[in-house]
Amino acid sequence: MPAATFRIAPSILSADFARLGDEVGAVEAAGADLLHFDVMDNHFVPNLSIGPLVCAALRPRTKMPIDVHLMVKPVDRIIPEFAKAGAGIISFHPEASDHVDRTIALIREAGCKAGLVFNPATPLSHLDHTLDKLDLVLLMSVNPGFGGQQFIPSVLPKITEVRRRIQASGREVWLEVDGGVKIDNIAAIAKAGADTFVAGSAIFNAPDYADVIGKMKAAVAGTR
Ligand code: DX5
Ligand code: ZN
Repeated sequence: MPAATFRIAPSILSADFARLGDEVGAVEAAGADLLHFDVMDNHFVPNLSIGPLVCAALRPRTKMPIDVHLMVKPVDRIIPEFAKAGAGIISFHPEASDHVDRTIALIREAGCKAGLVFNPATPLSHLDHTLDKLDLVLLMSVNPGFGGQQFIPSVLPKITEVRRRIQASGREVWLEVDGGVKIDNIAAIAKAGADTFVAGSAIFNAPDYADVIGKMKAAVAGTR
């Protein structure tokens, strides 16, 4: 099998919001592959962040695909707004949708890649009738709402199980992990089966973004 492709997705939740455009340019120059865009509504999760206006404002500032992680309920109405704002991937939590299949279809009809997000305690049974329509599975390794939390290690076997299901599907589906990803645990997360890594505080709280992203890429290289 060819070596896996790994992607680093800085979460701008931990960026300096007063200088957001420059921060996006800085992580792109530092080697980032995707821009992770955390949308929180103070209802589905206990925090309030950024919406389609900010996504549209950042779109012309980068060539990276914008990886929108919706932590909002209800979710359907906002999907076309994010597609218009230039999102490349839109992911949502099954708990935020009354009709998961319809929400996936909405994302794809809007011309975006579709992702389903699993909280640490959300069962993988939600993949049973959805994986064949998904471009991305996003496994939370913290409970969503805040940056800077500790990685929950019980997610590691869950990553391996999702990788097994993706392989069995024969489709190309990205497996992204979000929460508490650092230089010192990213290799274990890659070995478990992830190929796409969200990192907020590990990158934006460091003085040298290229140093962190470079070390992350070096740590995962050759793990699978
Ligand atoms: C949590 C968000 C994450 C978060 C990651 O609800 O979905 O993307 O910002 O931040 P770190 O890497 O600091 O755990
Ligand atoms: Zn996220």
